Amino acid sequence: MSTSSETRTSTGRAPADPAASAASAASAASVNEPAPVRGTRLTLRAATLGRPDSTALADVDLDVSPGEILTVVGSSGCGKSTLLRTLAGLLPALAGAVEQDGLRIEGPAATRALVFQEDALLPWLTLRANVELPLAIKGVPRTERRRQAQSWLDRVGLADRSGQLPHRVSGGQRQRAQLARALAPRPRAVLMDEPFGALDAQTRAGMQDLLVEVLHGTGATVVFVTHDVDEALFLGDRVALLGSGRLTAVCEVPRPRDRAAHDDPARAALRREVLTSLST
Ligand SMILES: Nc1ncnc2c1ncn2[C@@H]1O[C@H](COP(=O)(O)OP(=O)(O)OP(=O)(O)O)[C@@H](O)[C@H]1O
Ligand SMILES: [Mg+2]
Repeated sequence: MSTSSETRTSTGRAPADPAASAASAASAASVNEPAPVRGTRLTLRAATLGRPDSTALADVDLDVSPGEILTVVGSSGCGKSTLLRTLAGLLPALAGAVEQDGLRIEGPAATRALVFQEDALLPWLTLRANVELPLAIKGVPRTERRRQAQSWLDRVGLADRSGQLPHRVSGGQRQRAQLARALAPRPRAVLMDEPFGALDAQTRAGMQDLLVEVLHGTGATVVFVTHDVDEALFLGDRVALLGSGRLTAVCEVPRPRDRAAHDDPARAALRREVLTSLST
């Protein structure tokens, strides 16, 4: 695998246009759906990431455009979660610059939501109370935050489960509640760390469709880490490949979020390329 950072620019499809996605979302929105947010630009420049005693990634240059979905793949331990935690502001960069809209990321912020693979719901709160929590932290008044939480739970198909505790619902339902909790405070960036990794294939495909349906209308910028190459190629406008302590390539995905594109020759060629890169 190449250790040099090679970033391919768009050959056909421009990165998602937040204005266009906002307009289409607005036209599709029901009265219950909130207006789209403005996506945000996430940038790493010559960044070294990891812990002071162990560097995970060196010399990372990456630009995630407003409203884009960037998927990230790489073998276990290559630094995917490190990249995401750095963008979330949970890990400072060891060198270089990590910025949101040109401003250095210096810690966690409500404009960037992080969704973990592991179940991160608070077990003693109902699903609705879990979704309300970030709204309460934002200072949204009780009645309004209850309305918004219920609306998000409706949108992820949990209307009739909102009063349940997390241990009384399935893993897929908990993931949907986590998605609702992440999106409810209207983040401008959503950072997702293998959110569907523990789900069976069918539930996972359903969650991918739900993510596209619910998230795409929000206008938020998304960085989505996955082990699953097909998931990366379905969801991403671009896919970033990590390996050997580097960002090795960023590839434009032909026909993203189109299930019928699975057999597209260009998509199949990219799939082979990504699999080869992961096995070297
Ligand atoms: N808390 C920690 N302290 C020290 N080193 C860590 C810590 N967490 C992760 N690392 C190291 O940082 C490197 C990158 O880890 P990271 O968790 O980012 O990998 P990953 O690509 O997300 O792996 P996986 O696919 O298994 O989740 C690994 O070598 C790992 O051992
Ligand atoms: Mg990880």
